[in-house]
Amino acid sequence: MGKVKFLSESIVSRISAGEVVESPASVIKELIENSLDAEAENIIIEVHSGGKRLISVKDDGVGVEPDDIERIFKRHATSKIGSLDDLYNIKSLGFRGEALYSIGAVSDVLLQSKARGFDDGGREIHIRGGENIGIREISRTEGTTVEVRELFFNTPARKKFLRSDTTEFRRIINLVVPYTIAFYNKRFSLIHNGKIAFDYRPSSDIIDRFCEVAGIKKEYILIGIRELKEKDIVLQVFLGDINLQFPVKNRQYIFVNNRPVYSRSISYTVSHVYEDIFPRDVYPAFAIFIQLHPGDVDVNVHPTKREVKLKEEGFISSVLADLCKEVLSKEAKAKVGVVSYPERAEDAKEVVTTPSLSDVQTEQQLFDIKTGHLSTEKGLREKLKMAVYTGCYKNKYLFFDAGDALFVIDQHAAHERIRYELLKKQWESGRVEVQRLLTPLIVKINPEEMTVWKDGYEVLEELGFLTTRWDAHSIAIHGFPKGIKNPEIALRNILGEGKFTGCDKETIAKRACKGAVSAGERIREEEAVYIRNELLRCEIPFVCPHGRPTVVEFTETFFDRQFLR
Ligand SMILES: Nc1ncnc2c1ncn2[C@@H]1O[C@H](COP(=O)(O)OP(=O)(O)OP(=O)(O)O)[C@@H](O)[C@H]1O
Ligand SMILES: [Mg+2]
Repeated sequence: MGKVKFLSESIVSRISAGEVVESPASVIKELIENSLDAEAENIIIEVHSGGKRLISVKDDGVGVEPDDIERIFKRHATSKIGSLDDLYNIKSLGFRGEALYSIGAVSDVLLQSKARGFDDGGREIHIRGGENIGIREISRTEGTTVEVRELFFNTPARKKFLRSDTTEFRRIINLVVPYTIAFYNKRFSLIHNGKIAFDYRPSSDIIDRFCEVAGIKKEYILIGIRELKEKDIVLQVFLGDINLQFPVKNRQYIFVNNRPVYSRSISYTVSHVYEDIFPRDVYPAFAIFIQLHPGDVDVNVHPTKREVKLKEEGFISSVLADLCKEVLSKEAKAKVGVVSYPERAEDAKEVVTTPSLSDVQTEQQLFDIKTGHLSTEKGLREKLKMAVYTGCYKNKYLFFDAGDALFVIDQHAAHERIRYELLKKQWESGRVEVQRLLTPLIVKINPEEMTVWKDGYEVLEELGFLTTRWDAHSIAIHGFPKGIKNPEIALRNILGEGKFTGCDKETIAKRACKGAVSAGERIREEEAVYIRNELLRCEIPFVCPHGRPTVVEFTETFFDRQFLR
């Protein structure tokens, strides 16, 4: 007899379960996908001890017919596809007939269901470790309830990898939340250890749901849509503006044909667009919906269906990048003035909170965005254009009176934005205006910076920095882009951040501008007005290239409140 044996059914089922069911969160994901495929309107998810003790998902969907109740726990048993053609045209969330089989293999499951339109009551089936313990008739309302206990009781290695209750519950929230956005017209309730974590009522507006879930204000969401009829593609984006900056990437959602997915490339595409307006280490909020012909998406590339392959992904990414750029540059609002006094009672409802997630979300928004009135970008540009210069403070801030609001321009940040856009334009067109030095400026640098310089001095030259090696520890600057006031700071910034192989010119331009374009000098009225006018000519006027605001709007109401009027 040879060495090759067939694995037993019980080993096969555990291997398969290992791929589909990784944690309580993935069990819940499979169960709510089933509820959504069953056209449920209300989905109640109940969890105990991070899902380790109990996971229960209850829906009011079409239910399971009595004859199918045993079959649904068998491998490859599905009502969702039937032919090979269907596999390339998937419209439902499930299609493999593998989820219940896998969950049943590694836990103790009780499934109760009553099918829509069947009079003979319902059925309950008990599966433990892949074994059918029994089926009985029950009486219940239409819909399905699945209760999963003792997850991984027979796969101790997997059980060991379960984390604390809180961590597992966080995973659950993170997995469930995107479905609540995509299916905004359904009700979702999540209960943990008897306490309601959230209860989202059906909404008629997807943005309302997105804002509710992410704990953000609707007025900070910018909307864009692009339809490519000939390719059967629709892209829809909801982008958080400059006022929504977060220390972690936990408010970014991507959907392909309404299925929540992970996509590095789409995520990168959108985040890259924000790099122009956000500082480092803070992240935007966004929801991206990509709709395309089901045949142009391959959902079958990963056992959990979370990764998908898109036909023409490169093309879609570039259209998406253009769309996001357009939306962000045309519509972005200025950062809002911060109000740091206790709110009045009537303002309380305006305050942004994340009540439902508060017990698990410890991250704070970076900026306080509790404030009243705001101009839209268009209105803001107009108002700022007409505003009258009234003076400056500490050679840092320029004041412009616009009647019902006072605009404060950060002279330095504004200057950086203006310079950066100018440099970028020049570099892109290949015509950089260089200011040459009669005697070179010698800059001492460290060995690490020297290696960066050696690798990149040709790129620097393209950008207008004419440099040569002076000695083992110094570089000589012979020329630099016009408008940079302090070429030494610029060069240090560029070299100090490490290698720039792989950096695009925009990144280098940002580094060059940082701190190197103006020097807290006294500004005359004509110059202040010039800065304001140039700023308004910029593509993205209201943030400096490093993400700080250039203009802050203070409304009359703001001042009135300060004086308790
Ligand atoms: N909540 C539910 N309501 C109604 N029918 C359900 C429900 N859950 C499961 N079913 C039925 O059981 C079948 C098997 O479910 P299962 O999740 O194992 O596979 P699937 O959803 O078809 O595919 P996938 O493995 O990709 O999830 C489904 O095809 C469906 O007919
Ligand atoms: Mg399923």
